Amino acid sequence: MESLQVSNCAYIDLGRIKDGVDGVLSVAECGRQIPFDVKRVYYIYGLSAPQAIRGRHAHKHNRQVLFCINGSFNLLLDDGTHRQEVTLDRPDLGVYMDVMLWHEMSAFSPNCILLVLASDHYDEADYIRDYEAFIDQVRANHRNASINTSGRGE
Ligand code: TYD
Repeated sequence: MESLQVSNCAYIDLGRIKDGVDGVLSVAECGRQIPFDVKRVYYIYGLSAPQAIRGRHAHKHNRQVLFCINGSFNLLLDDGTHRQEVTLDRPDLGVYMDVMLWHEMSAFSPNCILLVLASDHYDEADYIRDYEAFIDQVRANHRNASINTSGRGE
């Protein structure tokens, strides 16, 4: 697995409990592997169209952990400065996506199923769906952070 160079995200490795011929378990518990209380679970499937793309947005408050529980897909992560594409193809390895992280999912295998754990209920107002608006917000956040660091904004 390729290390992540992008801010606001991290791999979450659930590990595998192997039950011999009876299969394998991977477990996600809030406050342990998942760094927030889960308010919403959704899954995405029916991804057989080769041109299918999902995501293409960032969130203001909602945090998520994304798993590929069947098949594979490519996940593009972009913090406004660094951009990286990784392949997710293991049900035990997820990606934590913090706020202000542009993400796009593509190149789905036809049998792909994504499982998403979210910190907040669905709220369209929490989405930034325009990439230029996302970049503007990242720059504004950097400006505010440097003003606060120098003590002039207080
Ligand atoms: P979207 O979040 O853009 O999907 P993805 O991130 O997987 O590309 O949502 C697609 C549509 O589904 C959009 O019309 C909003 C709706 N939706 C809900 O109603 N509730 C939800 O929890 C989610 C994730 C989406």
